[in-house]
Amino acid sequence: MTQTEDKITLSTEDTPLVPMEKIVSLSKRRGFVYPNSEIYGGVSGIYDFGPLGVELRNTIRRYWWWSMVQTNDNVVGIEGNIITHPRVWEASGHVENFVDRLVECKNCKRRFRIDQLPKENVEQNKCPVCGGELGEPRVFNLMMETYIGVVEGERTKTYLRGEACQNIYLDYDNVLKSSRLQIPFGICQIGKAFRNEVTPGNFLFRQREFEQWDLQFFVHPSEMQKWFDYWRERRFAWYKGIINHKDRLRLRPHGPDELAHYAKQAFDIEYRTVLGWQEWEGIHWRQDWDLSRHSQFSGQDLSYTDPETKERYIPWIVETSGGVDRTFLNLLLDAYEEEPPSGKDKEGRTVLRLHPWFAPVKVAVLPLQKNKEELVTTARDIHKRLQRLMVSQYDDVANIGRRYRRQDEIGTPFCVTVDFQTLEDQTVTVRERDGMTQVRLHINELPAYLLERVMWNYS
Ligand code: GAP
Repeated sequence: MTQTEDKITLSTEDTPLVPMEKIVSLSKRRGFVYPNSEIYGGVSGIYDFGPLGVELRNTIRRYWWWSMVQTNDNVVGIEGNIITHPRVWEASGHVENFVDRLVECKNCKRRFRIDQLPKENVEQNKCPVCGGELGEPRVFNLMMETYIGVVEGERTKTYLRGEACQNIYLDYDNVLKSSRLQIPFGICQIGKAFRNEVTPGNFLFRQREFEQWDLQFFVHPSEMQKWFDYWRERRFAWYKGIINHKDRLRLRPHGPDELAHYAKQAFDIEYRTVLGWQEWEGIHWRQDWDLSRHSQFSGQDLSYTDPETKERYIPWIVETSGGVDRTFLNLLLDAYEEEPPSGKDKEGRTVLRLHPWFAPVKVAVLPLQKNKEELVTTARDIHKRLQRLMVSQYDDVANIGRRYRRQDEIGTPFCVTVDFQTLEDQTVTVRERDGMTQVRLHINELPAYLLERVMWNYS
């Protein structure tokens, strides 16, 4: 990946892991994330995104799309639908295999996924919370059902997609025929997936409706290892490039008992939070499982003919599959800091040290005083000019120190202050979030100065 240098000094010093409640509270208070249907009591494992949340998600999605699709000549994107033909999920193995094994405590009635229980609790059949006896294991399919058609009795049962990548296999042949791509090549997609998770929880970490990003990279079987290694390393470097706490990222190979039904080999890219080391993205060796199964179930030949050698074969697939929501959550957990009072700052502050690329608001424009018309007019003019280039916020409520705090808390990397000197010489103060340093620039210098620091593809 061509990744430009960081334009801002990010904190490298290790800080304690951030409690999840801090992020839940900030998210609600400042409009990142709300519980879905809250006025009805909410639905477990389903969330909505507020004004800042949607900006953050959009920047995350756009950066992934740019670095995976727009800067790779042999990768293209599609957008498939959530609902597909029901046979897709038989072919994919989800109807049969996409299950969680669950036990319920006979005493406290809590439910646990067997694969997440400590080994000694499984061996002793003992509840990890109250020590009560665990009941018989039961199996739950995670697919969410829905129905197509209007006449009762004639409706067809199908599923909300359990993994977004299936559309890529369904459209693989159309992409091949409508483009000039040849193997090796990749198809990307970002889209919602739905799972009736038995134990949703930990805020955005395990939801029932969430968003995935996938690359499916189609290769000749003899080149599988090479491309598997290539994408594993590239995706690991990608994640490393977007976080402050590099030591909280690792690659972990799956043990044989962890592999999904389609995977012959897999690695997880994991990030360490208060939840421990947890999967952020999976790198899967899917081999010919998907195209072979869809060929078999649909009756359509999905093999590929090499234009030069005329060799005919089912391409093998390297998958890199991550979560937009886990990226959103991990970036907040990675960026959140509470700074104690210091020389520069007498009150202390909460600061989101998000990479400026991802900050939901890139710049805030602040008149020093809101009762001085000339200051307000100039600040509004600057805000309007900057709005054409990036997300800018105009703010004139409360004293300047408070306004800086408000912007620090949502991760705004730059604040532009219009003061009395501005009216004389057209210069403004630009205050940077992390070091709280200030520079004085001419208004005309602002666009280039800010763009260079907040856009990944500017310089
Ligand atoms: N197509 C392969 C696949 O779906 P997965 O490991 O089940 O693999 C890929 O999911 C990614 O989707 C995970 O690494 C995670 O980031 C995200 N993900 C999976 N289940 C999720 C859930 N219930 N809530 C939020 N994100 C989830």
